[in-house]
Formats: sequence, structure tokens, C-alpha cells
Amino acid sequence: MCGIIGYTGNNNATPILIEGLKRLEYRGYDSAGIAVKNDKVVVIKEKGRIDNLTRSVEKINPQGTLGIGHTRWATHGIPDKTNAHPHSSMNGIVTLVHNGIIENYIELKNDLIENSYEFTSHTDTEVIAQLFDYLYDGNPITSLIKTAKKLEGSYAVAMIIKDYDDKIFAMKKDSPLIIGKGDNENYLASDIPAILPYTNDCYIVNDGEFIELGKDNIKVFDENGNEKNIEIQKVQLHSDSAQKNGYDYFMQKEIFEQPKAVKDTILPLTPNGKITLPFEFPEKFIENLNRINIVACGSAFHVGVAGKYIIEEMTRIPVNVDIASEFRYRNPIIDKNDLCIFISQSGETADTLASLREAKKRGAFTLSVVNVPFSTIARESDGVIYTNAGTEIAVATTKAFSAQLSVIYVLSAFLSQKKGLMNETEIKKFTDEILSLPQKIQFALECDTITKNLAEIICQKQNVFFIGRGVDYPLCLEGALKLKEISYIHCEGYGAGELKHGTISLIEDGTVVVAVATDKKLYNKMVSNIKEVRSRGAFVIAVVCDDAENIKEFADEVIFVPKTIKHLSPSLTVIPLQLLAYHTTVRKGLDVDKPRNLAKSVTVE
Ligand code: AGP
Repeated sequence: MCGIIGYTGNNNATPILIEGLKRLEYRGYDSAGIAVKNDKVVVIKEKGRIDNLTRSVEKINPQGTLGIGHTRWATHGIPDKTNAHPHSSMNGIVTLVHNGIIENYIELKNDLIENSYEFTSHTDTEVIAQLFDYLYDGNPITSLIKTAKKLEGSYAVAMIIKDYDDKIFAMKKDSPLIIGKGDNENYLASDIPAILPYTNDCYIVNDGEFIELGKDNIKVFDENGNEKNIEIQKVQLHSDSAQKNGYDYFMQKEIFEQPKAVKDTILPLTPNGKITLPFEFPEKFIENLNRINIVACGSAFHVGVAGKYIIEEMTRIPVNVDIASEFRYRNPIIDKNDLCIFISQSGETADTLASLREAKKRGAFTLSVVNVPFSTIARESDGVIYTNAGTEIAVATTKAFSAQLSVIYVLSAFLSQKKGLMNETEIKKFTDEILSLPQKIQFALECDTITKNLAEIICQKQNVFFIGRGVDYPLCLEGALKLKEISYIHCEGYGAGELKHGTISLIEDGTVVVAVATDKKLYNKMVSNIKEVRSRGAFVIAVVCDDAENIKEFADEVIFVPKTIKHLSPSLTVIPLQLLAYHTTVRKGLDVDKPRNLAKSVTVE
């Protein structure tokens, strides 16, 4: 997703902007640019990686203590230099950057063209610049408010105005925007890692607020132009999360950080073997709770599918699971007795955020499971459980995924206990097992070598299938997503029992099938499915617990994971699946951390 950085202070803005953009790279982009103001505004932008921009910047070496920067993930207009941000208005009044989508940009553009405005790009962002130029009345805040009233869609906009030499003006709706307060200098960014080297005193901008950012003052105005008092928060984030610390890729580092990520997430929720949540449900809510809805996207959705199996088994409460882009438009049956759970690493995913707002409108209690502190989804939920996985840089999620799973385990046990289905002793046994997960994940990571060897086979394949039953099934969905999103090999995750209803026709000699079979009750069924695909020529990699009988008779390769109670197995089976994806992608010489076309946080529909 697009990234925004801004600086106003006493130092040259250029190196700060470039460093900030590098820290936003993980969000995914295809072009980048900066604008630096001295006596005039110098705009430099390039297609491709930030290195391309840096080369142009070094040639021009713009000096100025005021600047904005942007990494663009194209939505309107192809990824090229013309469509890259920043964009300036025709009369030079404003130069700005934008993250989001203006849904009525065509209508606005046509009106502006009728008013003799000429456009140079195909972006919706340039429409904001020309519209502001058209509406500019000499007062930046009232002009911003007038502009915002015309815009439909999502935006975080930061702008430099020709009459102001040391101020950035900004506004936001639905897309994230953070202000960082420095010492006689101030920053602005799409998220916290970009400004972390300079300050952790932050103000999280809210929808409908308008910002005047000077080097030694921060003014926030509401939609009526009235100045608001603001509270600066100290955000505790570890900047080492943004360093590889000796690993080859952030994804590799984050895979190996999972024992700590899970431990740091579980510990605050399980004091002395009991279970506590960092929020209160309304009185009698659990008593009347008759339905749970889990809503998420991508890997977070796969956590939701695993959550359905686990929560229903432990609480006997029906659980629906939806991908957010479907939930928000299917007119869901939701009322005040519903618990809606929104799982999101970034806390900014547009479809998940919109679904949260839809559920709130319908009266549900909204609980979010989020990794990024102060993110929009976290702030708009009735209750939040943070996954303390630390900043996750790689586009392909790993440690946040595992941390989300551990929150689901704790929540399941909490609800089960409240429903009187688990007593203190059973809770203690369950929490002891959850607390043993970090060590078991550490053991599971020992399959690193075998997965690296298997990558030699997988990297040559066009198609790979992942099959499983029960709670192993959503892990097959995740294993397929991990492998395809970074290695670009087509993969499918399938319920093993469903294969014979069509997809088995695709199995041919040498097709790789990863069979996840950790559930003892379903093991024999899985062996039958393994035999089915093997008899058609498949090369079967089995992921099983160490008590899987005679598995070596049925599978070509076997990866063993430590045993745990059934509900907790996803935390262990996911490890080899992540490593298979990682090593295959490295073997293919692809960019593990920044796969093509993808963004770390999808803040547009
Ligand atoms: C995960 O590997 C993917 N990159 C992607 O599916 C991701 O899980 C999805 O976009 C949801 O993101 P979120 O957790 O930040 O909401």
C-alpha cells in the first residue's frame, strides 16, 4: 500500500524523507517520489525501487527544511514517473501526496476540466491537488475542509502550499496518518516505523481532522475549523524490528521470531495459569451470546477458519467465518447478541475496517485482534487484544499469524470457562499447554533443513496442492497462500475429503501434494487420501506428529512436528509450511520480503 512521509524542522528534509520511504518499502510499492521546499518546491520522482529515486535525488541534491515523500502502489494509472507522487496543481499552489482511493475522481476531474484545469497524470490523486487549487481561499484549513467535503472515498493527504515555507498541511479519512513530535521538528507518516528513528511521541490522526504541522507546533482542527486539544502518546515499538539482524530476509527472521512472538502474546493473557482479557464484555453479554462472526482477509482469514473449529469445539457457540470483502456486502444477519471478531495484522485493511463499521452499525460487540498499536481497526473496536509480535516487515505474514492463533486459543478457553464448560483444573491444563507452545515451535523450527532440501523439488513445479482435514484444513489454505504469494507457483489448499470431487483430476505424475495429518481421529482417512493421490503419481510430503503410524510407507517425504493437544496443532503445522515457502522462493531467486503486486497493508478496497 502507498506510504507517506513528511518533515518540517531545521535539518535538510531530503535524507529524512529518503530514509522514511525506505522504512515504508515493506508496505509494497511500484514508484516513489519526494518534494522539498526552499524558495521553490523541487519534485523528484521515479518508477521502480527507491534506489532509482535516490540516484536522481543525489544528482539534484535538493536542499530545504520542509518536505514530503511517497511510495506509490498503483490503483489509478499505470506505475510510471508521471503517475508517481507528489502531484502539483496547475497553478503551483499545492504539491501533495495521497494514500487511498478517491471514488468520485472522474466526476470531479470533468468539472475541473470544464473550469480550464489541465491534468498531466491518470491518477485520482492529481484531482485532489487541482481541486484544492480551485477551492483555495488563502486559508489552508478552510480550503482543506472545503476540499474534503467534495471527496468520496479514502485518503490520507499531506501537502506543501506555496505560501508556507515551514508547514505541512494534512487531512485523513479511512487511510492511516501518524504525526511524530520532535524537538523543534515534526514528522508525519503512514505508520510508525517510518518515524521511529526520530521520535516515539506520536499523535494518531483521526478521520475528519485537519492538520497544520509546523516545526515547533502541531495544530489539529475539526470539520468546523475549530482547533482541538490533542494528547501526544508515547508509542513503544522496538526499532530493531526494522532490522534483519543477520538473517537474509525479514521473512526468515520473523519465522524464527515466532517462539518469542507467541510467548509475548500469551503471557499477558495467562497470569498464574488463569485467563484474563484486556477488556470487559458487557454484563450478561456472554450469557446471551449465541453467535460469533470472525471477519478477516488473507492469512488472517485462515486464522479465522481455524478459529471456527477451535471455538465451536470448546464453547459450542456457532461460528461464522467471512472474508471481509464478502461480509461487508452480503447484508449479514447481525444483532446486539453477536460477537464480531476482526483479525488484522496491520489494523488498517480497508475491507476489514469497513466490515467492523458495518457490524458496529448493526449493534454487535466488536473485538479486534491486531498487531499494530493504535491502528484504526484497534481504535474503532469495542475490545482489542494485541498480538505482541513486534513490527512485521515481510509482506508474507508469519509471526503475526502465529500470534493471532494463540489469541484465538486463549479467547476460546476464556469463553468456554465463562460458559461453564471448563473448570479451573481444565483451564490450568489448557493454559499450561498453550504456554508450552513457544518451546514446541522452537522444536518445529528444526525442520528448516529438510524444508530447504524439499525446496529443490518444489521450485521446479508449476502447481502444488495442500490437503488436510479438520483444523489441518485451514492450515493447508495458509500453506498454499504462503507458497504462491512469494514463489509465484500456483497452489491450492483443499479439504482432503473434497479432492475427489474434481480437483484430483489435476493430479499427475510428479505433482507435489503436501498432506497435513496431525489429527489422530482423522489419520486413517488422511492415509486413504494420500494413497489416492499417490496412486495417480503425486509426490507426497506429509506433515505429521511423531506418533503417525507407518507414515513412511505412504509418503515420499515426512516432516514431523511436535505433538500438542488437537486445538493447538496449527501453531506447529504452520512452521514447515512457512519454511517450505521461504526456501522455495529463495531457491527461485525471488524477492522474499517484497513479492510482486503485493502490499503489506491493503488500505484500499
Ligand atoms: C499474508 O501473507 C498476506 N500478505 C495477506 O493475505 C494478509 O494476511 C492480508 O492482506 C490481511 O492483512 P491484515 O492482517 O493486515 O489485515
